[in-house]
Amino acid sequence: MKAVILYDSGYGNTKAIAEAVASGLGAGARAVPVDGFEPGSIQAGDLLVVGSPINGWRPTPAIVRALGDLAARGLAGVKAAAFDTRLKLFIHGDAGRKITRALENAGASIIGGPMAFYVKGTEGPLLTGEESRAAKWRMTLPTPRNRGKGFGHMDPDGNAWTVARFLEGSPPAQAIYEAAERMAASLGPMDIRVSKCQIAFRRRRSFAYLWRPGMYVTSNIPLVLSLPLPREDGSPRFKEVAHPSPAVWMHHLELPDTSVLDGEVQEWMREAYASAA
Ligand SMILES: Cc1cc2nc3c(=O)[nH]c(=O)nc-3n(C[C@H](O)[C@H](O)[C@H](O)COP(=O)(O)O)c2cc1C
Repeated sequence: MKAVILYDSGYGNTKAIAEAVASGLGAGARAVPVDGFEPGSIQAGDLLVVGSPINGWRPTPAIVRALGDLAARGLAGVKAAAFDTRLKLFIHGDAGRKITRALENAGASIIGGPMAFYVKGTEGPLLTGEESRAAKWRMTLPTPRNRGKGFGHMDPDGNAWTVARFLEGSPPAQAIYEAAERMAASLGPMDIRVSKCQIAFRRRRSFAYLWRPGMYVTSNIPLVLSLPLPREDGSPRFKEVAHPSPAVWMHHLELPDTSVLDGEVQEWMREAYASAA
């Protein structure tokens, strides 16, 4: 199971959005340019996001061709979403909605409405804040689990848990999560697994967990970061250290705000990352 962010881009703006989306979806996600894209690489169970600049009120010819190739093979069992980049014009046309319709007609199940991201002029740049809007949007997409196990945990209604859903209703938790994810991503490739109880950053094993204490007790702490280390660290910064198995000491750190995520925490996370290989 993988996530492919397929894009076309004349001047790099759509590419930047595609990469911002892919980078937060974990190691199983790639931004793939439409030139040389192999439609046969998309399989049932995959997530396919397609992005195009609006060119003359529609997606680019290369994206339209790729959608035709995908439709010829069929997209049954594929989860899909679309976005476009465009100018802030009175009549700008549309690409995201047209792509969504094409994906749906090809048999994909559409997991979110089309998104539009704005550029200042034909060659860009993206308007301020568009890349962080892209980051927020991709948190609404399911994250691929490593080693072919599908797209995260489902609730009883069959809906995948997403980062956005997990953090719903708490803007402070969202901001802290974004900083924690940036810290984790700076260490190297990782997967993100979301369940009802936690968000886990993973290599072969999980190296960091984020969870909302308010789900269990009355708390004004938006998020807790739990790091499984191969030793006990005596820092008073940890709220609690549990010893769930002979080789693991689980260090619980409260995150009232992003300032807690400093260099010392990064080193602890690096140690957990190394021992999760
Ligand atoms: C030939 C051409 C036609 C365009 N037509 C539209 C349009 O109909 N509506 C619109 O909002 N932007 C239009 N644009 C602006 C593009 O949306 C903008 O160049 C694009 O978002 C930049 O992304 P990119 O760097 O990935 O190519 C057009 C640009 C070009 C070059």
